[in-house]
Parts: sequence; structure tokens; C-alpha cells
Amino acid sequence: MRELIWRSFRPTVSLLLFLVPVLAKEPAWNGHTTPTAQKKAPFTPYYVPPGAKSYDSTSPLISYKGTWTDHYSTAYIGKSLRATSEPLAEVSFSFTGTGVEWFGSMDNQHGPAIVIIDGKRVAEVDTYSARMAPLRQQRLFWAFDLALAHHTLKIVNVGARTGYQRPTKIDLDAFVVTRGCAGLACGTGRDSVLAAANLPARRDMDWTLTQEGTTGVHAMQLVVISDTHALIVDKVEHNPLTIDGHPAWAALYSLEDNAVTPLRMQSNSFCAGGTFLSNGTLVNVGGNPVVEDYTSAADFGDVDGLQAVRLFAPCDSSSVEDCAMYENHDRMRMASPRWYNTVIRINDGSAMIIGGSKKGGWMNNATVNNPTVEYYPPKSIQGSNGMPIDISFLVKTLNSNLFPIAFSLPNGKIFMAANRDAMIYDWQANTEQDLPQLPNDVRVTYPMTGTAVLLPLSPENNYTPEILICGGSTLDDHTPGYEISSQNPASSQCSRMVLDDAGIAAGWLVEYMPQARVMPDAVLLPTGQVLIVNGGATGISGYGNVVEQVGASNADYPVLTPVLYDPAGIPQRRFSALGMPTSAIPRLYHSVATLTPKGAVMVAGSNPNLDRSEVKYGTEYRVEWLRPPYMSQERPAVGAVPRRIDFDESFQLDVEVPNGTALDNVKVSIMDLGYVTHAVHANSRLVYLVTTTLENGILTARGPPNGNIYPPGPGWLYIIVNGVPSEGKKVMIGSGNGPPVDEDAIRHVLESSAVDQYEISKGKSAADSSE
Ligand SMILES: *[C@@H]1O[C@H](CO)[C@@H](O)[C@H](O)[C@H]1NC(C)=O
Ligand SMILES: *[C@@H]1O[C@H](CO)[C@@H](O)[C@H](O)[C@H]1NC(C)=O
Ligand SMILES: *[C@@H]1O[C@H](CO)[C@@H](O)[C@H](O)[C@H]1NC(C)=O
Repeated sequence: MRELIWRSFRPTVSLLLFLVPVLAKEPAWNGHTTPTAQKKAPFTPYYVPPGAKSYDSTSPLISYKGTWTDHYSTAYIGKSLRATSEPLAEVSFSFTGTGVEWFGSMDNQHGPAIVIIDGKRVAEVDTYSARMAPLRQQRLFWAFDLALAHHTLKIVNVGARTGYQRPTKIDLDAFVVTRGCAGLACGTGRDSVLAAANLPARRDMDWTLTQEGTTGVHAMQLVVISDTHALIVDKVEHNPLTIDGHPAWAALYSLEDNAVTPLRMQSNSFCAGGTFLSNGTLVNVGGNPVVEDYTSAADFGDVDGLQAVRLFAPCDSSSVEDCAMYENHDRMRMASPRWYNTVIRINDGSAMIIGGSKKGGWMNNATVNNPTVEYYPPKSIQGSNGMPIDISFLVKTLNSNLFPIAFSLPNGKIFMAANRDAMIYDWQANTEQDLPQLPNDVRVTYPMTGTAVLLPLSPENNYTPEILICGGSTLDDHTPGYEISSQNPASSQCSRMVLDDAGIAAGWLVEYMPQARVMPDAVLLPTGQVLIVNGGATGISGYGNVVEQVGASNADYPVLTPVLYDPAGIPQRRFSALGMPTSAIPRLYHSVATLTPKGAVMVAGSNPNLDRSEVKYGTEYRVEWLRPPYMSQERPAVGAVPRRIDFDESFQLDVEVPNGTALDNVKVSIMDLGYVTHAVHANSRLVYLVTTTLENGILTARGPPNGNIYPPGPGWLYIIVNGVPSEGKKVMIGSGNGPPVDEDAIRHVLESSAVDQYEISKGKSAADSSE
């Protein structure tokens, strides 16, 4: 990302102590400048992204029926607004584009309206707010998944609200139309034809791709939290979904009906990492200071997220109303600031927080590097007493080493890869064991981003870990941005190594994907195969840093056709794009993909921009669903699943299989679906269990042997019969208890660190010229 201009206001410690509780009570609406304004004015959600067009209420392209009255004020977009309190009065507007937004006011005299697009009723919007003084320039309705075509939007005033005597009103301040990306307009893929043209499709091998739903907040981070919902976390920007009168930067997404519910966040989560703890609480850490820039949100009421620890308690009900993100930097924070850190769950159920920069920027360097690990909850390793522990690997791997690749291994140690290097970290002894360097100078972490998976662990392979790392770039990471181009080819290399003595001695096996990719996503399927999706064929991660940017994107040539890797296949012939559909939606920087409990792969995001933009490559809210061939076959089903499965504990499952199915190939897997951001699929894991033969619909299985093989915490259980998986069910693996808590270490972190250390350090060192 581009160097951001931080808040010029530099609070002192005493001011902060005063400010934080106030902000916590009134999280929104403390802003006073609009994104593009030269002078201070009230902050509102109204935003015209570059590439989009605004139409004022007085535009001749807008027609009104019934009685509407004009109101004039500088508080309105274009200084005017039209309102009606006549029931059934309507406004209609014809436009060509893929998205439309309605802006207007909300207060206690406003009420419901019906929104109709192309003759079809699509929503009932309530513009009521309990406030007496109106909230102006609010985004009252938005749709971003229309086909690129001519559309008609009609809004009808309902005119009544239960418990309200007088007719209610609605108003129109402005419409904003987004043209968006559609078809080849955005996806000038070099690759796309490969799959479709050369390979004959076979019905039972066909994958399907459908576009359903929009995320409301851009999907930078994605994690499935229950059988019915995923959590999406973004950075602070002008997302259409609002909360407390300002754009939201987190949301819960229904995997059942695609509904989005905004989630309140206190600090800027750009770019955080996350993991579940052993008790099912999700921890999300790190982020960005408050951002202020010409095109960026001046003030959404967010606070500095660099040291943030955010807790999201388990939320399994299909009504997600009570789900909340908890943050209180006075009582809970990291000991050091982190931007682009990786977070994984280790064998004692706590979170290991790895690396990152001490402030936002782009390519890491020695000045901003945070070459340490710390834990949540804080713990004492060899006397560290909660404070960060130096890792020489994170110094050695400068510059391209942000969002390091990390996996917990079946011996309790941690595999790490960053830049061109790899190592095994013994977190208890705090020792590092170097592994062979990745072949052919391929760099695999931000901004030369590749992706990695821990291949399936099974009793058959004695839970021997094997790592696969794909994509990235061979560019020199000491080259300045002005000598790197979005057109430089990415790498198609995959490197694979077995992590035991013999495997390490044998070194990395090199294979090649059919296309080069930077920023790919690797998604483990219950079948044990790995889907590689998303990314670009040229350039590197980030925006605004290199030459020949496309819009602001540092990468180009989106790779639009996924490819499947079969780890058990014949070496060099493990990739196949047979029956793979090609997307029309580029998924470049800040794209995500995850397996969902039902078995489909959810693909979302892409936003190589400082703030929401409609210029190629624009901010993408549309969700796509890749359905593997097994989704259209008759599938096994599993009855009630124990809510909690202890290590090595045997349990029974009721299994139903389609009539006539042979029962000699039945597997049970526990999967961690991963916390996905920046091509890192933290904790992504597939562990096959020891099972008995399926007889009379009953299968006995044993929980994973121990917390090294599956770090204690949530997972999804799938049954796989002859390669066809059931739907997954959420289970808790282990005791379900929280990770170890070291009160001394917690106290010591709070005593030895300050809230928003980065802001304070800036205030004190006037000599810091890097801003
Ligand atoms: C190190 O990175 C920071 C953040 O991107 C940047 O501001 C600074 O100029 C860089 N320093 C050097 C020596 O490149
Ligand atoms: C499977 O076979 C059973 C017993 O023969 C029968 O009752 C049931 O309807 C069959 N199910 C399907 C889906 O064909
Ligand atoms: C899980 O453990 C963490 C860390 O101690 C704690 O903050 C959180 O409240 C616990 N969650 C539940 C559901 O008990």
C-alpha cells in the first residue's frame, strides 16, 4: 500500500486517557471532514468513488410522481433535496450500470419505502431514526450486483409507520451509479481460455461458478464462524454497509441467504490477522493507525489498531444479533504495534502473533520491522514475561517478509516461511532450525505474495507434515517501487517438502501451476485436494507503489480460472483445470476464498485501492460460489455430531449414504477452514481420523490423537465416502477450555506498554521524517 498520511493531531498520553473512554461510548460521528473537502464540514457516508457518478435530486433524469417539495441547504448534496410525506408518492430513475445507491436523510419523521428495480420489488427500507435532528447524506439503499445494463429504480413512499400518527416521509438527496467491472471490461485474462478451450468437459467432473450476494464491507479478511455465518473484516473505508451512521468495516455474512449484518469495530483493522482460541473465541489482532488522506475516510470514529486485540466470542446461533467484537485497549492490547502480522493457534490453544511492521507502509524494512513473536493471552517464554521475543528469521528474511507463512506442526513446533526462506521454530525452547531455501529465488510473502497449505495429515501417513507453497515472484525485494512494474511476470512455481529428517534432506520438490500467480488462495477441500484460485499473472501485492499501475493496482492480468491440485497424484501431473469454470471477476489484492461448511468455496473481495473505487481494478463486493462436482452428486449425510470431541476419544456417528454405495472407502475429517487474509490461510488444516468400518449406518471414530496434531479449538467434521464429502458440522476439539492464562505476564504487558505506542512515539520524536 501507499504511504499514508497519518492524523496530524498528536494526542499526548493524558489526552488519550481522556479520549478513549469517550470514543468508546460514542464510537461514531466524531468526525468533521468529508473525504474530498478542503474545509471542515460534518462527516457523512456520502461518497462518490472514483469512476462512479452522482445524480442530484434536481437532475432532469429523475422523475417524481405525487407531491414532492424542494429543500435548500448547504447540508444537502448539491445544496438541494426533495422530500415527500404523501403515501404512494414515488421517484424513478433510469441508469446504466452495475450498481446504484440512494442517499437521503433519516430522523423521527421519516419512515419506510419500497424499492423496486426493473419492476421487481427488491427491498423495504426504513428511513426512520429515533433522532429529532436529521442524519443527512445517509446511504439508504444500495445494490451492487446488477448486470451491466440499463435499469430502472423506483422508490415508493409507504407513508405510515406503526405507532406513528402522521404520514411519514422519505427524501432523495442524490443517486450514485457505479458502472463496476463486468465481463472482459475488467478481466482481460491471458489465461482464461486455457481450461475451457483445450479440455473436454465431463459432466460429473464439472465445477459450477455462480455469483450470489454482496459483502457490504469489502472482504479483506474472511473466516467461517459457524455452520451458518462467516465473519468479514475490512479496513476503514467508504463501504456501503453502515453502522451508527458511518460506513462499517466488519460484517457477518449469512452462508444460508447471503444477508449481511454490520458489525461494530472500534479500531482500524487494516491489516489484521486472526485465529480461534481453544475455547472458540476468535482473536483478531493488529491493524493500522487512523488514516487521513485526500481520498480516504477522514474520520469514521475509529481508533489506532496497531496494537489492537479484538475478541469475538463464539456465536453459533443462526440469528447473529448478539455477536459482538470486544476491544478495550486499556485492558487488552499487544505489547508492540503490528501491521501485516500472521496469527496462528498453537498446541496449547493460544494465539502466536508473528512479525509485521511497527507502522503501515508497503515493503518491510529494518526501520519498521517488528521481528518478534508475542502471544495471546500473553505468556512467559524463558523469562519474556509477556513481552515480544526476537526471532532472527524475521530479520534475515527482510524485505519481502510480511504476513509470514506459518503452520503448527504435529510435533508442536511451528513451520515458518518468509521471503525465500523457511525454518522450524520451537516456541517453547525459542530455537530456530533453518530449512533449505526455496528453489529458484522465488519469494513467497508480501508483497511477493504466494500462498501455502499444510497438506492433509492422516493416520496412513503417520501424521507426517508436508508443506506446499505456490506462486509469488522472483523480483528482487531491494528494488525500489519505481523500478518494479505491474507487468513483471509472477511465478508459477510450487515448492513442496516433507517435514521430517528424510524429507528435509531430500529438499523441495518443484512443480508448476498452469499459470503464474501472485496473491493466489489455496483452499483445502475435504477430499484432500487443494483448490488454487484468485491472483494475478503479473506484478506484486499492494497498490500505488510500482510503475504501470492499473488504476492503483500493483498487479495485472487477473487469473480467472481456478486450478485443482491433487497431492496424491503423479508428480508433475497433479494440476488439473478439467471442468473448471472461468470467472469474469478479477480477484487481485485483498481477495479471499474459503471452504464453507456445505462444501462450496466462497470467493470474495479484491480492492487494490486506498479507498473504495470503481476504476479498474475497482473495489469488489460481489461474492462467487465455486461448487465442486461433489455438490451436484448424491452425498453422504451425517446425523447428530457430538458438540465436543476430546483428543483420542472415540465417538459414534450416524451416517447415511446414497443407496448402493460401496462402503470400503469411508473417511472422517476434522478441518480448520482457516482465517484468510492476504493469501495467508492461517490454521487451515485437514486431519483424517482413525475410524472403524461403517456398519448399519454407524461409524466409530477417534478424535485427533493430541493437540499437536490438531491444536485444540473449533473445527468442522466432514464424512467422505468414495471421495464425496457430506456437509460439515462444527465441533469443538479438545476440552473447550481457554488457553493458559498467565496473570503476571498480562500485568507486565499492560505495565510495560502504552496504548497507541506508535502515535506517542511520533509525538515525541519530531525527527521522524518517514511520515
Ligand atoms: C521503511 O518503510 C517505511 C514504511 O513503509 C518507510 O516510511 C521508510 O521510508 C522505509 N525506510 C527505508 C530506509 O526504506
Ligand atoms: C434406499 O433404499 C431403501 C430400502 O431399499 C428405500 O426405502 C429408500 O427409499 C431408498 N432411497 C433412495 C433415495 O432411493
Ligand atoms: C477464551 O479465552 C480467552 C483468553 O483467556 C478469554 O478472553 C475469552 O473470554 C474466553 N472465551 C470464552 C468463551 O470463555
